Amino acid sequence: MINIAIIGTGGISDTHIQAFRHFADRCRITAMVDLDTNRAAAKTSRFGLDAKVYATWQDMLDAQTVNLAAICLPPFIHAAATIDLLDAGVNVLLEKPMAPTLEECDAILAAAERSGKLLSVVAQNRYKIPMMKVKQVLESGIIGRVLHAQVDSYWWRGSHYYDLWWRGAWEKEGGGCTLNHAVHHIDLMHWMMGMPVDVQSLVTNLNHENSEVEDFSTTVARFADGRVGQITASLIHHGEEQQLAVQGERASVIVPWKVLASKQRDNGFGEPDLSTVAEIERIYADLPDIPYEGHEGQIDNVLAALQGEQELFIDGVSGRNTIELVTAIYQSGFSGQRVSLPLAPDSPFYTREGVLNNAPHFHEKTHSVDGFADDSITLGSDYKSN
Ligand SMILES: NC(=O)c1ccc[n+]([C@@H]2O[C@H](COP(=O)([O-])OP(=O)(O)OC[C@H]3O[C@@H](n4cnc5c(N)ncnc54)[C@H](O)[C@@H]3O)[C@@H](O)[C@H]2O)c1
Repeated sequence: MINIAIIGTGGISDTHIQAFRHFADRCRITAMVDLDTNRAAAKTSRFGLDAKVYATWQDMLDAQTVNLAAICLPPFIHAAATIDLLDAGVNVLLEKPMAPTLEECDAILAAAERSGKLLSVVAQNRYKIPMMKVKQVLESGIIGRVLHAQVDSYWWRGSHYYDLWWRGAWEKEGGGCTLNHAVHHIDLMHWMMGMPVDVQSLVTNLNHENSEVEDFSTTVARFADGRVGQITASLIHHGEEQQLAVQGERASVIVPWKVLASKQRDNGFGEPDLSTVAEIERIYADLPDIPYEGHEGQIDNVLAALQGEQELFIDGVSGRNTIELVTAIYQSGFSGQRVSLPLAPDSPFYTREGVLNNAPHFHEKTHSVDGFADDSITLGSDYKSN
């Protein structure tokens, strides 16, 4: 039986608790850790868990042995908590973003290396049926040479969103929607397309006044072989119509699932290529569904990896790749320059200090709350419909 600690029992922890409970034959939650022990205790009883409550992860480590910690803390303490837990011999499932800066990501990777413990960074959108299938469709080569990929990380958040004490501050949240929302879609971009060689970005704040950080960014990325990527991160899009669209020579494939194909007439104008569409639809339909989606899918894999039954699917390096792209977007957006990747440690945004010194405050935070009475949250598109 794998003993689990939930570290941070706020909004996202419900999703982790439900997912772990789904695999009750393989694991059990034995520790709930939160500075706000009342919140941790209330959640422990709401979910009927047989778990002890602790204020700090150090108290928990002193009192009991756990095999896996799910870190659901605000981003600015991801590195401190993850490094302490790995060094104490605990495997870690770390919520996104891995950490706000590359310096912290590198320190986490070094701790994973020296401890020999498992580290997985949450990227639950890979575990969506259409995403897994589109990845396989792309790998089959059926759409021909890939030319362009676009991710629309469209979200909508009202002004109260940034009232939470740690949000909307470079020091605590580490960034805005590029780091904290588009993180999911940036992961999908490099998972499907690999890492680009350079990016050019615009980063701004259009409509969130109680926040230092951006609520919008848009980026053009170039890949070594000439392919082009476009990434938009936004908190101002009503309806949150999130999509991934990949254009190939023969066809385009889109999530939520759609396939389009054109062939040319004598004059070069296009007409639908229905046989290619039918061929790709058939390949897609024949691909098996994954058994679990979202956090459940990733947690199933982490448990199986701990039991030696599967390879770990999402590791620390892919978490770092996402942060490298986010960092390049900030560097480009704030300098107005095209930025080449990989980034070197002399990037002005590599360290926490560098971010604090170089990122503009779009606004100053003027008010803040410790928490919301309603801490239920939504996790974005199911990618089945828009
Ligand atoms: N994967 C997703 O789709 C998804 C969705 C939402 C949030 N998240 C991520 O999950 C993390 C947590 O977000 P949230 O919305 O649950 O935040 P939250 O503020 O609701 O919860 C964080 C909890 O951590 C506790 N905490 C803070 N500092 C602590 C410390 N030093 N020791 C112990 N407890 C401490 C707080 O009291 C709070 O209860 C963030 O990194 C966020 O980006 C991921």
